Amino acid sequence: MAGAAKRFREKMAGRGLVSIVAAHNGLGARLAEQAGFDGIWASGFELSASFGLPDASLLSMTQHLDASRAMAEATDIPIVADIDTGYGNAINVMHVIERYEAAGMAAVVMEDKMFPKDTSLLAGGRQELVRVEEFQGKIEAALAARRDRDFMVIARVEALIAGMGQEEARMRGEKYAEAGADAILIHSKSKKPDEIVTFIKEWRLPVPLVLVPTSYPDLTEADIEKLGKVKLVIYANQGLRAAVTAMEKVFAQIRADRGIQNADKTIVPVEHIFDLQNVGQMKEREEKYLR
Ligand code: SPV
Ligand code: MG
Repeated sequence: MAGAAKRFREKMAGRGLVSIVAAHNGLGARLAEQAGFDGIWASGFELSASFGLPDASLLSMTQHLDASRAMAEATDIPIVADIDTGYGNAINVMHVIERYEAAGMAAVVMEDKMFPKDTSLLAGGRQELVRVEEFQGKIEAALAARRDRDFMVIARVEALIAGMGQEEARMRGEKYAEAGADAILIHSKSKKPDEIVTFIKEWRLPVPLVLVPTSYPDLTEADIEKLGKVKLVIYANQGLRAAVTAMEKVFAQIRADRGIQNADKTIVPVEHIFDLQNVGQMKEREEKYLR
């Protein structure tokens, strides 16, 4: 989408909470747009899972970039790209930013973990963080590499995920804000929102916060608005999990029935998929140009 970065920055500067949902292909992105979300989270976890792989720096940048570009092409809402650790050091980050910006992304989120990373929500996951100065260098490199100042660079603090405590998390958030990050994503795998709520209450800088409430689903947008300071909420994998829920059920039914006689009534008709594929537009074009 042209002008994505500007539109997203305006949304982030406007009133109210901005809420985006994860997708990993054009179809999912279109469903997110139709549902009325403000944007799309190009999730590394979802894309990795779609290949049947762990979210542990196994996919290449190009694989994620291609999926992100396909989503930008399929929709008119901004895409916030999950670039994990930035695929290496500050030099790699500059290359990554150039490519993602050119592909029409509105923003990126880069996390302070070591490459190769391990996924955040995994119990007992291998969570190693890079030095603060190193990550500040990566943030500054990302900011220097962007052409459009509206393109947002969001820094993600993994200190709570790594069990390093509130003080370390706050210090890192402040240092990343000092390096120029446009927003700070504070991630937590705690099943209760208390850890995140404490972080928010103690956050003193004017730089907005970003939350991913996957593991503490009871914290609603209304609750988050009351806390203030948070500007963006990312629903990072609900579409993927909903698809798995539905597919497991339907596949089991087909196997049990040895046919699709019952399953067919529970799923959308193919015409619904045609609509999502923009077949109508293709037909109009056929009418006009096929001679
Ligand atoms: C993702 O969706 O890829 C994320 C969020 O980065 S999490 O899976 O919680 O790390
Ligand atoms: Mg990710």
